[in-house]
Amino acid sequence: MTASPSTLEALREMVRRDSGIILSEEQDHLVGLRLRPLVASCKLNTIDELVRLAHDDGTNDVRRLVVSALATNETSFFRDAPCFRALREVVVPELVRARSGERKLRVWSAACSSGQEIYSVAMLLADAFPHVMGWDVELAATDLCREMVERTKSGTYTQLEVNRGLPVRYLARFFEPKRSEWTLLPELRAKVSASVLNLTRPWPALKKVDLVLLRNVLIYFDDATKLAIMTRLRSVLAPDGFLVVGAAESPRQICNWFEAEAMAGGFVAYRHRPDAHEGERERRMR
Ligand SMILES: C[S@@+](CC[C@H](N)C(=O)[O-])C[C@H]1O[C@@H](n2cnc3c(N)ncnc32)[C@H](O)[C@@H]1O
Repeated sequence: MTASPSTLEALREMVRRDSGIILSEEQDHLVGLRLRPLVASCKLNTIDELVRLAHDDGTNDVRRLVVSALATNETSFFRDAPCFRALREVVVPELVRARSGERKLRVWSAACSSGQEIYSVAMLLADAFPHVMGWDVELAATDLCREMVERTKSGTYTQLEVNRGLPVRYLARFFEPKRSEWTLLPELRAKVSASVLNLTRPWPALKKVDLVLLRNVLIYFDDATKLAIMTRLRSVLAPDGFLVVGAAESPRQICNWFEAEAMAGGFVAYRHRPDAHEGERERRMR
């Protein structure tokens, strides 16, 4: 299913404006594939009609669905093994040591898709740091797409999804079968709160976060959007917190506020650069 060049251009602009996602002309074929089900469910015949409807849509519902359909939601449990190894062996132990007095831990999966990322963290904590689950633990998951947030809340996954990256012993220990699907145990789901948050719009007031997972989403944005997100992250990440991005992403491509900390397996996490804050303090004092 194709669309006219002017429709495709209007669509790219709509998606950029609403989500920050940059769609290139080379991705026009993807647009057809991803919008076809929405064209059918809106009882329309063409993408041109759908985009017109999205533009004229007073409630913004169709427009939201169009943008959601064009976001890439690819994810899996324990995606990127070196990342989860570093979380287990270095990042979480360090945070647990630092927070053992206040017994509070906050983790944020900032583009959570259907929730496998935040539940992977929940299972990692329950398995390797069971005493921490008795602390005040907040595992927040946010995404642009309402449908993804609802899926995260449900904590329910198909056989195909649990076959991707989830160790069998975790499936047996942390899930219960529900008809042909699998649902995380209520005690793990209770630690996770999921909500809609568009990273490119002003964020609500957030508490300081000890570990931010911002993985595989910066790649879709232009540099100005990445910089705006890093600026907000700077005040949300706890002074001794960790920022984790995707393997193909780096905050250092856009700002020098975070320094890389190399860990086993070639994995890199980011932390506030102390001298970046020194500079900021000096500027404020001047
Ligand atoms: C490829 S998935 C990454 C999921 C997970 N972080 C991972 O690495 O497996 C990208 C997610 O970013 C979300 N996303 C795209 N633009 C966004 C925005 N402006 N604000 C919040 N989330 C966004 C998409 O809806 C999608 O679920």
